[in-house]
Amino acid sequence: MRTPICERLGIKYPIFGFSHSIDVIVAIAEAGGFPVLGLAREEPDQLLTIIKHVEERIGSKPYGIDIMLPANVPQQASLDDLRLSLPSEHVAFVDGLRKRFSVEPPTAASFFTTQVRSEAMFDEQTEAILGSNAVAVATAVGLRRDLIERAKRQGKMTFSLIGSVRHARKALEMGVEVLVAQGYDAGGHTGPVGTLSLVPQIVAVAGDTPVLAAGGIATGGQILAAIAMGAQGGWLGTLWLGAKENHTPSALLDRLINASSEDTVITRAHSGKPCRVVRSEWIDAWHEADAPIPLKMPLQQVLTGDVFSSIHQRNNNRLIYEAAGQSVFAINRETTISDQMNLLVHEMEVSWSRMKRCESKGRPGRDSEKTSAQQSSL
Ligand SMILES: Cc1cc2nc3c(=O)[nH]c(=O)nc-3n(C[C@H](O)[C@H](O)[C@H](O)COP(=O)(O)O)c2cc1C
Repeated sequence: MRTPICERLGIKYPIFGFSHSIDVIVAIAEAGGFPVLGLAREEPDQLLTIIKHVEERIGSKPYGIDIMLPANVPQQASLDDLRLSLPSEHVAFVDGLRKRFSVEPPTAASFFTTQVRSEAMFDEQTEAILGSNAVAVATAVGLRRDLIERAKRQGKMTFSLIGSVRHARKALEMGVEVLVAQGYDAGGHTGPVGTLSLVPQIVAVAGDTPVLAAGGIATGGQILAAIAMGAQGGWLGTLWLGAKENHTPSALLDRLINASSEDTVITRAHSGKPCRVVRSEWIDAWHEADAPIPLKMPLQQVLTGDVFSSIHQRNNNRLIYEAAGQSVFAINRETTISDQMNLLVHEMEVSWSRMKRCESKGRPGRDSEKTSAQQSSL
């Protein structure tokens, strides 16, 4: 089951696991996958501490770091100034929702209550990544030529999450070394093309550049299918939310366990950009007829960041939501990363055997001949 990228990265299985949780990252590494630590929603002054904790626990096992680099954010941003610039219609709407759902203030500060995405923040994130021992750097929602070039000079492998052929070409032109073809099915920020249609198109333009498939993948059979389409592995995000190591708030875990793929929706209500999340009454309220169109990134999070923090910190079972893909179908109970990884590998083996059985049944001149010989002897 090992593909060339497994050899290059020194991992056992072609399973790439994105997570914001240190415990998930460590467990994926221990189980033979390639963990990718998300640092896009961590407070900048925490980055070095988080990286230090990961590296102390992960030892010499390889891991990657991921950040988001959306274009059109301010150079430098003051949260207070941006709050004052919010349109009054939006402020009134969110105040109305706070009252309607009795949303209480957050219990502690978080990225969403203290930070605004800006170029200055991306500079801080870049320096933290380049100072780490991560062997790979992934970026999503955008690209930065200087990060790619500096990371490559340090021997780090560069990955880019892309959702269209146009973005894949741009990433290749900038020298990105691995394309993560992330389809519409995915949790988080997505484009409009489904994974099954996207992967072959990206493989076709990628040439010798490895491609990974992301979006809606939560079984070993799907990872094998991605490899059959020319990808070198699967990149998964949602599945790990069902693992103990993710410390998912219980209200969110219940929601995920009870959700089907249809309960995930694309919304701009979370960040201002299209993002697939598991629905809740908060998300539904933004899709009612009288709701305003969400603001652009980063303003939507300036407007609603305190609510996102509050509903997570207070385990609000009516409103809690999170980025989640159509892959949520595979979260049926709380489990562990080790069980999830074992199951993925087992399913890959079962799917492989199934494909081999199809091959021997369908191969002309063998079973088919035998059948006709048997028939003629009757
Ligand atoms: C809770 C959550 C947060 C995510 N945050 C990010 C992020 O910060 N950066 C990123 O590149 N991708 C992020 N993603 C997307 C994943 O990297 C991955 O592409 C996606 O989860 C794959 O589809 P799946 O959710 O169906 O497995 C996030 C996904 C989830 C579920």
